[in-house]
Amino acid sequence: MIQNSLAKTVVKLHVNGETHEVMVRSADTLLHTLREQLGLTGAKRACENGDCGACTVLINGETMHSCLSLAIETINQPITTIESLMDSPIQRIFVEKWAIQCGFCTPGFILNCHALAKKHPNADEEVIEEWMQSNLCRCTGYQEIKDAVKAAVQAEKQA
Ligand code: FES
Ligand code: FES
Repeated sequence: MIQNSLAKTVVKLHVNGETHEVMVRSADTLLHTLREQLGLTGAKRACENGDCGACTVLINGETMHSCLSLAIETINQPITTIESLMDSPIQRIFVEKWAIQCGFCTPGFILNCHALAKKHPNADEEVIEEWMQSNLCRCTGYQEIKDAVKAAVQAEKQA
């Protein structure tokens, strides 16, 4: 790390398999850095309080709310954002199941679902319900989202 005179620090972040140099202040969140410095706007800014899941990313394969993660804490850790799942089977399942209305919550739900399918290939209804509780949909399309998550878990199991 190199300190500069503006009290920002140059750090390397590993995002979606690529390494990026960014300048961050110690209080800059990962959400802010992804959106404002790397142009990765798939993670959404909503509650900024850890309540809604719109800003979900994966850090070391674990779902995290990027609004509550400091960018400097994520140095040397693989970060996955929704942009890495463009045209993926899970994205197609969400479309096919009509699990999208305004779409604002969708990146968070898809990343959360992606992590669930990897970690719990045999997830039953109860596990799926519990897992999805970290994300909110203001359009209230929960049934369609649940159907998409179930289908995605099943598809991952068969892959
Ligand atoms: S914006 Fe991060 S949890 Fe709502
Ligand atoms: S689809 Fe609109 S917030 Fe979920």
